[in-house]
Amino acid sequence: MINYTEKIPNNVDLGRDRVLQRALEHWQPAYMSWWYDMGPNESHNYDVYLRTAVSVEPDGWAQFDYVKMPEYRWGIFLQPRDEKRLVNFGIHKGQPAWQEVPGEYRSILRRIIVTQGDTEPASVEQQKMLGISCPSLYDLRNIFQVNVEEGRHLWAMVYLLHRYFGRDGREEAEALLARRSGDTDNPRILGAFNEPTPDWLAFYMFTFFTDRDGKFQLCALAESGFDPLSRTCRFMLTEEAHHMFVGETGVARIIQRTCEVMKENNVEDPSDVRALGVIDLQTIQRYLNFHYSVTLDLYGSDVSSNAANYFTSGLKGRFRETKLDDDHVLGEAEYPVSEVIGDKIVTKKVPALTALNERLRDDYIDEIADGVGRWQRVIDNAGVSFRLTLPRKGFHREIGNFAGRFISPEGEVLTQEAWKKHEIQWLPSAKDYAYVQSLMSGRVTEPGKFANWIAPPVRGINNQPLDFEYVRFN
Ligand SMILES: [Fe+2]
Ligand SMILES: [Fe+2]
Repeated sequence: MINYTEKIPNNVDLGRDRVLQRALEHWQPAYMSWWYDMGPNESHNYDVYLRTAVSVEPDGWAQFDYVKMPEYRWGIFLQPRDEKRLVNFGIHKGQPAWQEVPGEYRSILRRIIVTQGDTEPASVEQQKMLGISCPSLYDLRNIFQVNVEEGRHLWAMVYLLHRYFGRDGREEAEALLARRSGDTDNPRILGAFNEPTPDWLAFYMFTFFTDRDGKFQLCALAESGFDPLSRTCRFMLTEEAHHMFVGETGVARIIQRTCEVMKENNVEDPSDVRALGVIDLQTIQRYLNFHYSVTLDLYGSDVSSNAANYFTSGLKGRFRETKLDDDHVLGEAEYPVSEVIGDKIVTKKVPALTALNERLRDDYIDEIADGVGRWQRVIDNAGVSFRLTLPRKGFHREIGNFAGRFISPEGEVLTQEAWKKHEIQWLPSAKDYAYVQSLMSGRVTEPGKFANWIAPPVRGINNQPLDFEYVRFN
């Protein structure tokens, strides 16, 4: 008999709920065998300087120590309950927030939780092989931190499935461990989570772009009238911030290193830049185009009756719902969405309720644009003349109004033939991937050393020095 209160740090009184304990007793070994199988390659014996959450208090969710990852304490934490919390939007607006699942919303709520939960193990699977080419111990530690926390996010969703959805929930929890990223027979649910993450530039782009989609989805679910979901997502968001930090600073450090080498050697041409063993800015732009566009698809169709239902039912709100100054019902409101008519992109107004995916995507794009602006400043400060740009929304999309269309990064509507001619300038090619991977043929393991293609960070983790031994290989 496992003492769950000890083994799984939690603030949900795990030790008192026998049904839940039995469900977890069954699921935990399956989770561990998934971790041994799909967690970071050959890492199981490493001692990693990790942050572990042991409570939701400010001093409790950031405890640092060396941990072997299979012994990481994947805990279950909900933000403390606010007894006065209400459903804040949709047709149930003003009712007390639900502490149990409303019967009529059971299946859609389960679907929402499963879809969110599925992304968590997927990203661990996508990143499995990257440890063998890490640019430093600092970066290796960071990817492992992201991986164990994605594991914890899976636990968070599985807790909700086990606690509130009975047998169906238990079956869904097992299926979450059975799907595999990129598998032809049993893939992960969403497209971007089946794309490979083949190198460290892709990893940083993924954590900047795709983990930020995670943030916006969690923010929308944190508004949910189903209170346990809201409280779970609120705590997950505290961890998500670090993942986006890893992505943003990772790309910024690559840009910085490239610019330094360009200036020192007075070169601009991409092939000259590559000859010096760093990643040319044009390739970074193509990676950006790819990760941005596949992540935009995660928000779903521009016009969606499902999105309207989620909102009207009080299950999934807008970004910062309670801070928005409107009726939170959206009976009359309109919202602009774009579509292709002839050879032009036109904007038209549709009922705001049906455009909630598009609205969340737009909120996301605003935040992305700020981050890309910070990358641009690294280039400007180095005195290099190059502009990073965000492609227009319609570029390289497979879901929504732009699916099946051929839009250039500047927003021109092209024929398939014309688009294909330029694809190699816009998206990473097999040659780009091969070049980037050629830089990452081995791992850098000497404390304080960094691969040639990336600058050191400004500071270490938890005030440790840069030459701290963040990972011990044993
Ligand atoms: Fe996550
Ligand atoms: Fe994340």
